[in-house]
Amino acid sequence: MRVSYSLVRPMLRLLDPEDAHRAAIWGLKLGLGGRESAPDDPVLKTRVWNLDFPNPVGVAAGFDKGAEVVDALLALGFGFTEAGTVTPLPQPGNPRPRLFRLDEDEGVINRLGFNSGGLAPYLERISRRQRRGIFGANVGKNREATDAFKDYETGIVAVCPYADYLVVNVSSPNTPGLRSLQARASMEELLTRVLVARNQSAPDPRRPPPLLAKVGPDLDEAAIADIAEVALSTGVDGLIVGNTTIERPSTLRSPYAKETGGLSGKPLLPRANKCLSDMYRLTKGKVPLIGCGGIASGADAYAKIRAGASLVQLYSMLVFHGPELAVRIKRDLAERLRADGFASVCDAVGADYR
Ligand SMILES: Cc1cc2nc3c(=O)[nH]c(=O)nc-3n(C[C@H](O)[C@H](O)[C@H](O)COP(=O)(O)O)c2cc1C
Repeated sequence: MRVSYSLVRPMLRLLDPEDAHRAAIWGLKLGLGGRESAPDDPVLKTRVWNLDFPNPVGVAAGFDKGAEVVDALLALGFGFTEAGTVTPLPQPGNPRPRLFRLDEDEGVINRLGFNSGGLAPYLERISRRQRRGIFGANVGKNREATDAFKDYETGIVAVCPYADYLVVNVSSPNTPGLRSLQARASMEELLTRVLVARNQSAPDPRRPPPLLAKVGPDLDEAAIADIAEVALSTGVDGLIVGNTTIERPSTLRSPYAKETGGLSGKPLLPRANKCLSDMYRLTKGKVPLIGCGGIASGADAYAKIRAGASLVQLYSMLVFHGPELAVRIKRDLAERLRADGFASVCDAVGADYR
């Protein structure tokens, strides 16, 4: 049974944003999100890292931090979903309120700070899955960790047997010091260590799950160039570009615009796209990128693909448009690919530079 989001939305909006999110997870667990039964348009099929995606539109990390609704999200018609960020040990995150809906701007600010149930319940859930549909596991470090690298290694070793791809999140603005891991030397050491950890814990050593790093949109050109070089030299399989921004565009109108935290949704789109196209150019198209940040439509998804994204992800716009968004984006994206004469998503990746 699918409950129409237009009916539920007014009720969810009466709730504090974090309670509304819990209610949405609860609804998905109960199967109220429904199941998208129509097969995907073949033009949307794509293959990245030897994985066959039915379509390139995924759910970004943060929506399902504890891997509670992986299959329910896939059932909405998303081509893949990423659960996390999970930290090795449980931790509460920052005090509430810590999540703000910027209605006037179609944006979200969060300073959740990796609230996490820890690896144990996360593993319990993902190990029970039937493994239908592509699932990525996104890992982070505990706030009080004395050895950040060790936390990432612990996470990767633990989730590796159960995930189709792995992500190290080094770009949340809400954990002190986390983003400094994006600096060249730290990134080099971190990626080298987690790649070894991944290789040693892969169920099939000949086909380890791809490992990606998720970076932020607040990097200057030199920092993007450093990450591009490190990505190429370490052999990391991909990059997610990217996370929320600490910048506040002057166009914001919401009374919550000055809240501390990471901004996502529509106001993030231009910054995220600039970062994505810089990264594609600097990695010379050799490192598959997942474009994330501000996607609200098929046109936005298509623009990211043309700018170099092999896949795309979204979160914030689900808050404003509900679960029907996946179907709408896919329909529009398929039309745009065909209208421009592309036979598949792969053919359109990076088309802006040709
Ligand atoms: C409430 C909230 C929580 C988030 N938590 C995480 C997280 O735990 N790990 C992570 O990698 N990204 C997290 N993100 C970032 C999203 O995955 C995404 O990168 C960002 O929101 C930009 O995409 P969007 O504009 O489509 O939301 C979070 C975003 C929001 C809004």
